[in-house]
Amino acid sequence: MAGNITFTMIKPDAFRAGNSGTMIKMIQEAGFAIKAMKLTQLNAKTAGAFYAVHKERPFYQDLISYMSSGPIIAMILEKANAVEDFRKLIGATDPAKAEEGTIRKLFATSIEANAIHGSDSDENAGIEGDFFFSQFERV
Ligand code: CMP
Repeated sequence: MAGNITFTMIKPDAFRAGNSGTMIKMIQEAGFAIKAMKLTQLNAKTAGAFYAVHKERPFYQDLISYMSSGPIIAMILEKANAVEDFRKLIGATDPAKAEEGTIRKLFATSIEANAIHGSDSDENAGIEGDFFFSQFERV
């Protein structure tokens, strides 16, 4: 059965552009409850660790620079079928391929500066949530 928790980050481009409030409103209106939220900033070390799975990709160094270029908002979200439903709400990684009305279609500016992150599995939602929220207790 699909889990009821996912993890998201509003990325530096979207925070800088002042889109965080609108994006959080869209997330809540789509039925996600915010269980934990933190405004913080990654550095090369923490961004590198978070995206370690992409270490061999050609875009890794750029991704680390971009993800540590300004504040981000990390959140743990709760909803039935959270991972899949959240990925539908945010749309494809590449905003050019994202469906109309999705968060990335509305706010992302490129495949890298794509406004928001969403976990791709229940397992990663747990790992990524733990990365930012050591005190979070799953119910
Ligand atoms: P995210 O869903 O957070 O997961 C990995 C991130 O790497 C992705 O969003 C983008 O920000 C970035 N990314 C993925 N593919 C590419 C690519 N082809 N070129 C540049 N950045 C990418």
